[in-house]
Amino acid sequence: VLGCSEDVPRLVATMAVVNLNMPAYTASINETNSMLPSLEHIHSSKRGKNERNGLHIWHPYYAGYSEQFVRDVIKELASTNDVILDPWNGSGTTTVVAQQMGYRSIGVEINPVMVIHARAKTIIPAERHAELRERTRRIVQAATRYSTVIPVENDEIYQYIGINALQPLLSLKATILRSRPLNISHSSLGITKRDVLIHQKYHHPITSFFLSAVFQCLRKIGNFHHGSNPTWLLKRENLFHGEKTEVLVLFQEQVQRMLKDLSDQEFHREFAHPPLILEGNVKILPLSDSCIDLIITSPPYCTRIDYIIPTKPELVLLGAEKHYLEDLRRSTMGAPVIVKRNYNYRNNWGSTCLDFLAAVEIHPSKASRSYYLPVLLQYFDDAFSALVEMKRVLKPGGHAILVVQSSYYKEIEILLGQIYKEMAQALDLYASIARREVVRQHMAHLNKKSRRYVSDKVYHEDVILIYKPYRGCK
Ligand SMILES: C[S@@+](CC[C@H](N)C(=O)[O-])C[C@H]1O[C@@H](n2cnc3c(N)ncnc32)[C@H](O)[C@@H]1O
Repeated sequence: VLGCSEDVPRLVATMAVVNLNMPAYTASINETNSMLPSLEHIHSSKRGKNERNGLHIWHPYYAGYSEQFVRDVIKELASTNDVILDPWNGSGTTTVVAQQMGYRSIGVEINPVMVIHARAKTIIPAERHAELRERTRRIVQAATRYSTVIPVENDEIYQYIGINALQPLLSLKATILRSRPLNISHSSLGITKRDVLIHQKYHHPITSFFLSAVFQCLRKIGNFHHGSNPTWLLKRENLFHGEKTEVLVLFQEQVQRMLKDLSDQEFHREFAHPPLILEGNVKILPLSDSCIDLIITSPPYCTRIDYIIPTKPELVLLGAEKHYLEDLRRSTMGAPVIVKRNYNYRNNWGSTCLDFLAAVEIHPSKASRSYYLPVLLQYFDDAFSALVEMKRVLKPGGHAILVVQSSYYKEIEILLGQIYKEMAQALDLYASIARREVVRQHMAHLNKKSRRYVSDKVYHEDVILIYKPYRGCK
């Protein structure tokens, strides 16, 4: 176990018992794939209007599925002591719902900002009321005295927020982190920025809770807004010129609002298991083999969405430098950056994926071969590696649920659900499309250029159900 928290080995150790008495599937792979249950009856994975407030608006994140969907999947597929994993945990919908329902859960996510928000959501205010109140008071008191402007590595942030607001936010960050001191120094260990981010004690939920409050103040004060492409940040005028005390008051109000949002959650069962949220890469999950009963997740789609740029202000506030941001983007699946040019097609990606890539390779449009093909190859290589890891950590008899959307390259439809299904089958997992829904509001609708090739594009959201058999099916 390579986990960043001492909780991991203990947790994983308790998961190691595999129930060998469960019946094995004996049918052929095709028969068994069609035997997997349909999930047509469960709630839509699309978020409703009531999921655009409370916990759901702590962060600038448009991705995410509905809580009711996760609840229905857990009711359908989980047993009492199961451990649930989301390896693309994002804003933490899976881990939030698993906690509410009393299940043990683990979230893995590459973006440290989303890790902090998701960890912050694991706090149960009723259990920590006095501690949180006292800590808030001490943080504000210390930040009031702290007046040095700490240089931020990426000067650009000044243009969005202005020095008057930045200075108190940096003071808050420093006092929050100082209350749990670091034993690591950059130079003495010769570690990179990335290692520092990982090793700093962000992983304590209380630290994450206060950092999440600082991030939310940053959003309220800063002049960030999204253009028609939701991943890009635009600059606006009118920077904050208020006093430091205004920022500190805002922070206290934000803490109160977050505590209310957390208290408003309904817990249905005894919740002895706060989720474990880890910063990590789905391609090298920090978990031992066969320790997970159920995966509920949604990977980045094949739409070249950048998940890092929208959280750039928070990352810069944490101390991220340019090269760190670039590294992070390159490790993030689906990002519009070419990591390397020499990916090879793998036969076991399945015929739908290979036919699609062949069509892109001969497409007459500009940059199809030089830019889009390497980016797409990279995406499918990552998708396949992620499935290999999911198979490794799943217990025999365990299930995985993946929510994916189809999209288009020019006029060619990318049947992403079918592609993930075929990839899983190539790994000797049973897989089926258990639910399909036509999606009306798709990000591509915002982009006029993407409509140029096919005027009536239809998009599907597929729920892929995967089952890991007790023994190989071939
Ligand atoms: C579709 S979103 C998941 C949304 C999530 N279900 C929710 O409710 O918020 C995909 C997530 O995968 C994360 N991600 C991208 N590449 C990753 C990688 N290599 N390892 C782990 N997480 C990654 C992105 O940062 C993003 O948060």
